[in-house]
Amino acid sequence: MKLLEKLKSIEKSAIKEILEINSLEGLENSRVKYLGRKGELTAAIKSIKNVAKKDKPKAGQFINEMKKKIGSLLDEKEQGLREKEMASLENHDITLPGIEREMGRKHPLIRTMEEIIDIFARMGFKSVDSPEVETEFYNFEALNIPKNHPSRETFHTFYVENGMLLRSQTSTAQIRMMEKEKPPLQIVHAGKVYRPDAVDASHSFMFYQMEGLMVDKGIVFSDLKGVLEKFAKEYFGEDVQMKFRPHYFPFTEPSAEIDISCFICGGKGCRVCSYKGWLEVLGAGMINPRVLEFVKIDPKEYTGFAFGMGIDRICMLKHGIDDIRLFYENDVRFLRQF
Ligand code: PHE
Repeated sequence: MKLLEKLKSIEKSAIKEILEINSLEGLENSRVKYLGRKGELTAAIKSIKNVAKKDKPKAGQFINEMKKKIGSLLDEKEQGLREKEMASLENHDITLPGIEREMGRKHPLIRTMEEIIDIFARMGFKSVDSPEVETEFYNFEALNIPKNHPSRETFHTFYVENGMLLRSQTSTAQIRMMEKEKPPLQIVHAGKVYRPDAVDASHSFMFYQMEGLMVDKGIVFSDLKGVLEKFAKEYFGEDVQMKFRPHYFPFTEPSAEIDISCFICGGKGCRVCSYKGWLEVLGAGMINPRVLEFVKIDPKEYTGFAFGMGIDRICMLKHGIDDIRLFYENDVRFLRQF
């Protein structure tokens, strides 16, 4: 009887295969392969209808026994594997110390940047991106910085190839945003800027700035004051006082430098404020109408303000850090403190 032979060969290979298995997963695969609905044995049972009538009982009996045999072999094997698994867990000393992975943390400058952006975001400013490699147009021309201005000389700006440069201020973002979107605009941008300064405790060839800008109909200087005062109080504390000193920036008119009363000594004078009682933290002003014209915004219809601050300086003031180089040396003993 052909079927019988076929069954015997299935049985032989099944037993051989199952004995060699040494994983619970492999065992489950064999169970499906031989005993499953689409398994080899099920297929054989279906073909019993082609067997001569007199041979049918014999074939049926053989199949039943075979099913039992394979089933109990699988069960036995499973039990063995499970016992082995338990034993290996028992040999494992779970009281041994684990492999400690040190948690990373954000760099103090990135944290400062995010905290500041967050305060402005709550006042409705949207945070945007802007490129670090720029053209002279965005870094100077459109910001009303004329060709002969000293800041355009090679010893004040890093020039790269094809007339491109590493931006020396985030004010470039003002132009890019005003070109891209029409007012009302309320935007902040923070990122790296580059200046070929000699490196010392307060200068670095690369540092971080944040720029803010607001343009709409009827924006006046007191809007600028309100926004900056809110920021200073949120970031440095409710008691902080502000002082606007007249200043000159080519892209704002009028312009001011803004000091806050020293939040360490409350204005009495201390090491952090160099015994002046005041800390210079910001540059700002009303956007120069010439700049608005550059980006095709009608200055008779719209006005706006802009401000810029050094993130490094603000972070240094806030945490009493006296050397900017600490931010860029990647010494974990310093960075771990934040
Ligand atoms: N870009 C100026 C600087 O780097 C700061 C500034 C920004 C001043 C916006 C006015 C308005 O010093």
